[in-house]
Formats: sequence, C-alpha cells, structure tokens
Amino acid sequence: MGSDFSEATATDAVVESFAETPDARLREVMQSFTRHLHAFVRDVEPTQGEWEAAIGFLTAVGHLSDDRRQEFILLSDVMGVSMLVDAINNRRPVGATESTVLGPFHVVESPARALGDDLAEAHEAPRCLVRGRVLDLDGRPVAGALVDVWQADDQGFYDVQKDDLAPDLRGLFTCDEVGRFWFRTIVPLHYPIPDDGPVGALLRATGRHPYRPAHIHFIAGAAGHNPVTTHLFVEGSPYLEDDTVFGVKQSLVRPVRQEDDEETATSLGLPNPFQVIDFDITLAEDRSPTGG
Ligand SMILES: [Fe+2]
Repeated sequence: MGSDFSEATATDAVVESFAETPDARLREVMQSFTRHLHAFVRDVEPTQGEWEAAIGFLTAVGHLSDDRRQEFILLSDVMGVSMLVDAINNRRPVGATESTVLGPFHVVESPARALGDDLAEAHEAPRCLVRGRVLDLDGRPVAGALVDVWQADDQGFYDVQKDDLAPDLRGLFTCDEVGRFWFRTIVPLHYPIPDDGPVGALLRATGRHPYRPAHIHFIAGAAGHNPVTTHLFVEGSPYLEDDTVFGVKQSLVRPVRQEDDEETATSLGLPNPFQVIDFDITLAEDRSPTGG
C-alpha cells in the first residue's frame, strides 16, 4: 500500500509519477522541475490566495501574448532566464563576439537590403553610418556572411509595436567579398520594454524600472561558422549599468563618433562630417559534426 499524499511524500510521489516517461530528456526535465517547484513552494509557503494570484499572473501573461506581443519572453527576460539560457548555450571561445538576448522584436524575415541602404527612410532624425566586418577567430574576413539587423527608432519603438506593419529599421545584409557590411540608420534611443501588462506590473511592484539601454540587434552567420545573436550597445546611453533584461556585455559597447570623410559622405548621401558606429563581429568556426 502506498502512503497518503502529504507534505512529507508529495515531492517523491510526483517525481515517481514521471518515472515511466519514454523520452529520457523529458523525464529528466519534469522530475527536476518537480523537485525545484516543490522546493519553492515549501520555501515560500504560499496562502491559497497567493497561489491563485500566481496562477492569475501567468494566465494574464498568456492572454497578452500573440504573434506581435510576447509577454512570456518579457517575463523570461526580466527574470534573467533568457540571458542564463543564452550563456549556457553560447560558451564561445575567447575572441568570438559575445552573444546576448534575442528579445521579443525579431521578425523571421527581415527585408533583404543592399549594402549602404537606409534602414530609416520613414524617419527624420540625422543619419548615422553603421559599418563593420564579419571576421573569423584568425581575423580573416568571412565573405558573404549574412547580417540581420533590427532596432528601435529615436523614440524607442520597434516597427512591430506600431499599427503600420511596414518593415522599418530592420534589414538583412549580405557582406561583400571581404566581409564588410554597412548601412545608414538613425541612432536608437534607450526604451522601456512594454510595461502595460503583467510583467510591467511586476516591475512596478518590486521597484524595478523597465528600461533597456540604446542598442541595435544583430544576428550574424555564415556557412561553417556558429551564428551569433547579439547587440551593439550605444556608449553613453542611460541604463548600460542596469539593463532590465540583464543583456549588457561591456565588449559590445561602441561609441558614436564624428567622422570627417568627404568621399564616404558623398557616396552615401550623408552630410560631412557624419556620425559613425564601427562594429566588427567575430564568428567562431562551427566544430560540430554536422558543421559545414
Ligand atoms: Fe531591443
């Protein structure tokens, strides 16, 4: 005869209930989740009302999530779980560009752009040239690397947060034969993550702010190399020290400089001098058995 389900036996009973899970990884995950969840409940000893509030919170997170608003990603982000999963999955060799969070504003298909294109056609703010090279760990250019870019505008909003669904401030670039990419854009502003939902309420209730420092998102990849999902952070931006999603790495902070170069300015239709951010991306070779 088994013993009653009680405080003493609860955890073992639920762990045991997953013992016959055919998939070994799912079994491991569910048994570990059970142990940690039960340990949390034993530690906190929630009242019935508190547990109902917790379920209500998760329900609200789900209700607000759809293909344009991803409240669960925000929750993962502000709890530092997105960055922790990223860190575990991106133990890169020294010298490779560090990764950071994908965030909720990536779209699967950024519009293909030509090198030099203006990502900010719908915007008035002064243009900035963003340029860099995709390199391997030996400093050799990675010809034809793909660089996917997206960013907020100078008010702190992404295109997908607006009613007009036209792609804006995003683009997919193919590097030239010496690994270079360059485009015109506007300098993004620091911004609050969407804080009108349950995650925002959680931040307010705990005295946390919802801001991220100014940044431009990148995913860079090439055949035979591990892709990197990362950001360029704008030097001097507020919140570099206390990003609400814990995404900042000092190696990714770059200054906006003034450059005096009449020839480049003329070729790109920029005033001279112009603003420029340089951001090289170093990819590690893919050494997995299936790597190209
Ligand atoms: Fe972002």
